[in-house]
Amino acid sequence: MRMLAVFALALASCAGSDVRQDILRSLEKGLVAAPEPNASEAGAAILRAGGNAVDAAIALQFALAVTFPNAGNLGGGGFMLVHTKDGETSFDYRETAPAAAHRDLFLDAKGDVIPGMSLDTAKAAGVPGTVAGMALAHKRFGSLPWERLLEPAIRLAEEGWTLDAWSARSFASQRRNNSADYLTGKAGERFVQKELAATLRRIAEKGRDGFYAGETARLIVEEMKRSGGIIALRDLARYEAKERKPVEGSYRGHRVVSMAPPSSGGIALLQLLNMLERHDPPLLGFHSAEHLHLVAEIEKRVFADRSEYLGDPDLYPVPVARLTSKEYAAERAKPISPAKKTAPGDVTHGALPREKEETTHFSVVDRWGNAVSNTTTLNGSYGCGIFVRGAGFLLNNEMDDFSAKPGVPNMFGVIGREANAIAPGKRMLSSMCPTFVFKEGKLWLVLGTPGGPTIFTTVFQVIVNRVDFGKTLAEAVAAPRFHHQWPPLGKDADPISFEKPPADAVKAALEKLGYAVHVRGRIGDVHAIEIVRAVGFHGERAVVPVGACDPRGMGRTASE
Ligand code: GLY
Repeated sequence: MRMLAVFALALASCAGSDVRQDILRSLEKGLVAAPEPNASEAGAAILRAGGNAVDAAIALQFALAVTFPNAGNLGGGGFMLVHTKDGETSFDYRETAPAAAHRDLFLDAKGDVIPGMSLDTAKAAGVPGTVAGMALAHKRFGSLPWERLLEPAIRLAEEGWTLDAWSARSFASQRRNNSADYLTGKAGERFVQKELAATLRRIAEKGRDGFYAGETARLIVEEMKRSGGIIALRDLARYEAKERKPVEGSYRGHRVVSMAPPSSGGIALLQLLNMLERHDPPLLGFHSAEHLHLVAEIEKRVFADRSEYLGDPDLYPVPVARLTSKEYAAERAKPISPAKKTAPGDVTHGALPREKEETTHFSVVDRWGNAVSNTTTLNGSYGCGIFVRGAGFLLNNEMDDFSAKPGVPNMFGVIGREANAIAPGKRMLSSMCPTFVFKEGKLWLVLGTPGGPTIFTTVFQVIVNRVDFGKTLAEAVAAPRFHHQWPPLGKDADPISFEKPPADAVKAALEKLGYAVHVRGRIGDVHAIEIVRAVGFHGERAVVPVGACDPRGMGRTASE
């Protein structure tokens, strides 16, 4: 009886949505929501084997390196946010600039940015952080043996997995560097990766030394020599993942915890929420011109602050407390007028390099109430397009997330700042935003998304859709998205980009205010979990995790 009541409640919370999702049919079980079904299953299998959320997240991360090579990775980095009964912490496994990098790395003799060099060459690769990040997370919270967590990924690489139509199409479109030698196969065929399986086995046997030393390190450095890259053995030996205190704030009484620098994601999300909290979005109407204009004005200010103040916190003093305070939000939001748009030129100094959007995110909760929100990336789709020959994995092109040329407009006409200038050993600024939202002191939402600079504006929209507009999690994730950033991208003076064209009247009102209305491709690929807490017929409190995978992608939930 109690089970039925809880199940009915969970179903009700998802009614009316076209989002693929699963609802746990029994209590006290864990759930994962991830961007690729084989990887979701790898995470769920670890939960079934008695692993906790961090164990499952580690297995999922390694499985994504096999089955989602456009963004899942060994050769990239990311951020993992963890919730346990003791509170929240996070792991920063962001890539670093190699020791031989310098601030003019991507400039020619005349001091101009060399097009494509920070994206499509071996010099675009930062020192990978993923394996060190997973090893650190395991040391802190792992409950199953490390080798056990690598098993699903090794099996998927060794025995292969069936290529789906999306992956086959995506592989066929990759022709950069040596990627076409590796990304082969047609939909329905098995995709086997023997070199990658051997690398994963070395990592399983030796932990971080299976990647940062010995055979794998030798193969990475050989690839650097062959392809003109600068990652050296000492860069690999010195790489360190870091445990960091997450940033924290609130939105209409809900506690919000997210990633600290070197990601801008958490600070930007809190700034967006703090400024919006001063208004009542439902009064304006969902995606009305007034609502869109208000959010665009807020986003401009957040992007301007990001470009000026945010960088690697180990090398640059990021004013976290000030940027995330309610007082600062009040001051910053004061000039916003419903009747007038702020011209981009009137927004304060600083600007941003263009970011790639092909990151990926997964969320996990376990039966004990622990949770992981993990965002990981190679930066661009398939990173720099260079596989480490003999080791079978792709390298990132994360160096492009630095400002290639601080203080001078780059090829996109935008300016970067000192805080994010290239320096040896430095972490490049990110927008990744793995997030937890708490309701009445208890974990409520676990979420995140890929999308470069649209990451924190997407997480923001999902939270606002859920909290203010009363949408179910599934609806909040599925709802059409828009994005505005500063400085404007492209030729138009001040564009707002939409996934779906706004209604004619809304478009006309925005144009009257001076915005250009753009329609673009999908924004984000959210994988989220909501913990539904219900009182059963006998008064017991029941806890049901409900997953929502973005209909924009091919993600799936999988339960313990
Ligand atoms: N490379 C995308 C990000 O870090 O935000």
